[in-house]
Amino acid sequence: MPTNFMVRNLTLDGTLRQIEELSTIKDKIINLDFSKMTKVRSIGMILFTTYIEYSVNKNHKIYYYSGSTKVNDRGYSYADHACFFNTLKVKNLPSNITKNSVPTDNFYPLEKIDVKELYDLSTSGTDWKKGLIIKSKKLAKIISNGNNVLETNIAYALREIFRNTFEHTTSNHLFISAQRHPSEGTIEIAISDSGEGILNVLSVNKNLNIYDGEDALKWCIKPGISGNAGRVSNRIGNEWKNSGYGLYVVSEMISKIGIFNIISSNAKLEKENDNLSTSKNISFGTTLLLKVNIDDTYKLSSKTIDNIVSKGQIESKNNRYAIRTASTMSKIY
Ligand SMILES: Nc1ncnc2c1ncn2[C@@H]1O[C@H](COP(=O)(O)OP(=O)(O)OP(=O)(O)O)[C@@H](O)[C@H]1O
Ligand SMILES: [Mg+2]
Repeated sequence: MPTNFMVRNLTLDGTLRQIEELSTIKDKIINLDFSKMTKVRSIGMILFTTYIEYSVNKNHKIYYYSGSTKVNDRGYSYADHACFFNTLKVKNLPSNITKNSVPTDNFYPLEKIDVKELYDLSTSGTDWKKGLIIKSKKLAKIISNGNNVLETNIAYALREIFRNTFEHTTSNHLFISAQRHPSEGTIEIAISDSGEGILNVLSVNKNLNIYDGEDALKWCIKPGISGNAGRVSNRIGNEWKNSGYGLYVVSEMISKIGIFNIISSNAKLEKENDNLSTSKNISFGTTLLLKVNIDDTYKLSSKTIDNIVSKGQIESKNNRYAIRTASTMSKIY
């Protein structure tokens, strides 16, 4: 017997609750009814899409679209316009779902970024990292809507988050969605992969003695902390080598102007200004949420990344297992 499941609010908390419920269903076949969705956010669509992908691939569950195909609900129309249904691994989707939406400065539809696309973007077709730079700059330009300093910082953040999926996990793609909420004065950018999660990957570095997911999330944003520490070659010219500075810089940058969140390894980390908190949380893969307060972006300058890197290099001296010098790439923007 299939189980029928009504999908409701796709907000951060609402989606996490529904994923928790879905993960307890024993039936192999689940009918998803989307006709009563009200609030829909980028982070909710990203978490839901990643969960379904994980559940289909790892637990061999089968999801069907059920319910009416003529839905006038605002949440449904928004999700459809954001290409949510187009990326969902759900069978029997109606033929009229939106497959392509033009991004605007208020809205970046849900997009699957495959490493193959990054290879194709590079002029040689052989260097995905060149394609990565092009792609992150392009996205940052749209999301930042003419704010040049914000654009530079967001391009750095996207590049470092994207490359982590391709460098540290077996996943060859990730999902992104972003939205500007003028009434709230915020921009929300959500990025997710269905990879192994931060605890599994960072634990390869045995020096760190990580004991659970919350601990892993606290470690991964410290300067100079990398799962790859001591394993990468120190060849001169290897500007992309991992030095453990990517998430440190991004978490410091975003928490200055808003809220930085990571959900991974059954834990959630939140950083706002200097306040850091963690909690237990259901998760599949790794999800990041960058929430920017538009009124606070004046706090960024063209020197922000340099300043954070310098601060991190000093702080890394307090930890004997941290890498003291950020790699060339972690300093370039
Ligand atoms: N998407 C992810 N999935 C699984 N593990 C991750 C992911 N992102 C980061 N990590 C883990 O967190 C660690 C810290 O990430 P961070 O980006 O700060 O440093 P790094 O990638 O090792 O080095 P650098 O960013 O300087 O190249 C990584 O080494 C990896 O172990
Ligand atoms: Mg990194």
